[in-house]
Amino acid sequence: MAITLTRPDDWHLHLRDGAAMAAVLPDTARRFGRAIVMPNLKPPVTTVAAARAYRDRILLARPAGSTFEPLMTIYLTDNTAPAEIAAAKQSGIVHAVKYYPAGATTNSESGVTDWHKARPALAAMEQHDLPLLLHGEVTDSDVDVFDRERVFLARHLAPLQRDFPGLRMVLEHVTTADAVDYVRAAGPKLAATITAHHLLWNRNAIFQGGIRPHAFCLPVLKRERHRQALVAAATGDDPRFFLGTDSAPHARHTKEHSCGCAGIYTAHAGIELYAEAFAAQGKLDRLQAFASERGPDFYRLPRNRDRITLEPVPMPVPATLAYGEHELVPMRAGETVAWRLVSATA
Ligand code: DOR
Ligand code: ZN
Repeated sequence: MAITLTRPDDWHLHLRDGAAMAAVLPDTARRFGRAIVMPNLKPPVTTVAAARAYRDRILLARPAGSTFEPLMTIYLTDNTAPAEIAAAKQSGIVHAVKYYPAGATTNSESGVTDWHKARPALAAMEQHDLPLLLHGEVTDSDVDVFDRERVFLARHLAPLQRDFPGLRMVLEHVTTADAVDYVRAAGPKLAATITAHHLLWNRNAIFQGGIRPHAFCLPVLKRERHRQALVAAATGDDPRFFLGTDSAPHARHTKEHSCGCAGIYTAHAGIELYAEAFAAQGKLDRLQAFASERGPDFYRLPRNRDRITLEPVPMPVPATLAYGEHELVPMRAGETVAWRLVSATA
């Protein structure tokens, strides 16, 4: 049976820039009303002026007639000035600040080397009530890659909450039962986003008959027990878990490489993949809260007023999609997704 939802928003998205952005933006704009746009460009979006210019480029690249609204973020560095945070809040276009531990992932070289250095900016965010978005992984080379999220919780997140008790934070793309338990036990100022790929795949997907670079993302996929904890959180009652695709396009040749990039492209089926994960639990009735209600409530924005309809008809996914002068390999390439977007009505 078809389902109709309040139009969802994507609370964690990589749009890139230039021709790459123009190629991927229509996939998101067709499905989602708004998206929190990640600032990890080269160079990163560290100022309000850069965020404003990036936003203008996104608006220009929207398909004709689209009302998709990019919600901008700025990239926290060791040197982010409190005045930049005040200006960000004042701008009305910057909705959060992103914390990448330096070296954690794609284009994170300019990220935070030690968050104590960013204390003035964090205090300003707390003062101005501008949320902090966390890539919640430690980067220490002696910590096992599958443990990096769990170690981040005790080593960095707990002290951040202690020192900035008024700061609203989103633990982005949670991947472990540990993170789910941590968020559940925390107060209303901490929320988490969950990707579709972490709901649908466990770490076996990376090694299915050989090494699968298109299933590599960060934080890396975890074991089945963790996937099940994420599914329980997404389909459960706690309002602090909501949708963030982390759709992260990379040109095919940069993933099919001896040192392949992290990131999975899901925007082509950005809501359909979640419908599949929820339907598998018999919890489609919970999709609207997760996809369309809890995110705007946390970010203190109005919920969308228009709707979308999905039907349980298999949608074939092409083997590749155009990506500027290159191509990318989307999630489920050459296979099908169990749901299809039928219509979007005002
Ligand atoms: O898999 C990922 N890809 N994780 C990130 O944190 C960054 C993202 C990207 O920008 O490609
Ligand atoms: Zn991301």
